[in-house]
Amino acid sequence: MGRALILLAAGQGTRMNSDLPKVLHTLAGAPLLHHALNAGSAAEPERTVVVIGPNQSDVAAAAQGFGEDVVPVEQAERLGTGHAVLQARAALADFAGDVFVLYGDTPFIKPQTLTRMAEARAAGSDVVVLGFEARDPGRYGRLVMAGSRLERIVEYKDATEAERKINLCNSGVVCADASALFSLIDEVGNDNASGEYYLTDIVAVAAKRGLSATAVTCDEAETLGINSRAELAAAESQFQNEMRLAAMEDGVTLVAPDTVFFSYDTVLGRDAVVEPNVVFGPGVTVETGARIRAFSHIEGAHVGADAIVGPYARLRPGSELGNGARIGNFVEVKAAEIGEGAKVNHLSYVGDATVGAGSNIGAGTITCNYDGVFKHQTTIGADVFVGSNTLLIAPVELGDRSMTASGTVVTDDVPRGAMALSRVRQENKPGLAEKFMKRLRALKARGAKKE
Ligand code: UD1
Ligand code: CA
Repeated sequence: MGRALILLAAGQGTRMNSDLPKVLHTLAGAPLLHHALNAGSAAEPERTVVVIGPNQSDVAAAAQGFGEDVVPVEQAERLGTGHAVLQARAALADFAGDVFVLYGDTPFIKPQTLTRMAEARAAGSDVVVLGFEARDPGRYGRLVMAGSRLERIVEYKDATEAERKINLCNSGVVCADASALFSLIDEVGNDNASGEYYLTDIVAVAAKRGLSATAVTCDEAETLGINSRAELAAAESQFQNEMRLAAMEDGVTLVAPDTVFFSYDTVLGRDAVVEPNVVFGPGVTVETGARIRAFSHIEGAHVGADAIVGPYARLRPGSELGNGARIGNFVEVKAAEIGEGAKVNHLSYVGDATVGAGSNIGAGTITCNYDGVFKHQTTIGADVFVGSNTLLIAPVELGDRSMTASGTVVTDDVPRGAMALSRVRQENKPGLAEKFMKRLRALKARGAKKE
């Protein structure tokens, strides 16, 4: 039997105090929605429906950005979690099998947890709810158990004093057969403290019908929902910690783990070393043995084995560093391929360029890639020596083993093996410096000019 995933994401997220829908706020470089879809993908759904609010075409786009087959459906009015799930009914009309319901703002549910829920279903429970023992149960819905049987779920607002003392809370994650789920919700009313159609009421309806329900529990941290910016920051911190531990487990040295920030998709090879205060944006792969030195910012880049980046380097999207390449301090690389063993060690901008293997790019070299309207390419061959403070006015090409003299402004291609030199010949005026300074000091002494 196949599985389907329904992700609820129609909530306004009022407490974020934001123009951006809550599920589009990012965690480790990806929208919360993608984290939730990723968590749900552990159930291996053949169908995925995301329930979004009205006028949220940006959320729909983000949902389809995760996977083209993800179907966004609109909940025109926010009438409760049960009502929200019903919006997916038409999209799943031809689907038979189990449905997992997850929330778009609950990104940490572990694959094993969904597996355990599937197992509880296979073991015969008609409705399986994910619960957790809360340190502070606050306003969560409470799971009313009778042994291993889940009798009903009571929302905090509707709970008696005695029920509020229950610590076992509802995470919101539910698994049930699709047709059973929709037909149970059909029977759910909205006669409660919130006037909403509660998904949680399906448990009591199931009991009435002689269907069984049970709870699977997980750690509270997994069910952490995000409702405010403070909770988003707390979730970020938790996620970063997990990524740091996972990286170290995989054989990466983090000198000061708390100061390194990853993206959801950062990949670091074994024996890579990351020095303090490094930020990885999305789309970075660092191969084995590479060293990312302190205070570097890297996104959309591939760093070859044994390469050294930084300190204080910036790699922007499309940076492709060959094995053993070196990018030094205050160097920015964008959409550029740096060949094996090539060096760009100081104060340079290399954008829309290729640098051949073994080439050395001198301090202060700039690829002038942008004319204000168009971007142009710079092509540097192998074993080229680019002198300090060279301006490469793209499009331009430097042949293999060519050189540029320091301070050269390269506007024309340099043939292989040639040296480009374009600067004004130096002239020395004997004694002029001293004479000049003397005159200035005299002027100052007469108070003619302010220092
Ligand atoms: C819900 C549960 C509660 C549980 C808690 C866990 C119900 C009735 N209550 O309460 O038992 O302890 O989650 O966090 O289910 N949503 C929609 N459309 C709606 C309403 C909600 O899409 O009409 C979505 C929200 O975007 C959110 C999720 O459903 O992702 C939960 O909604 P929320 O209002 O946060 O539910 P709680 O009141 O916190
Ligand atoms: Ca909530």
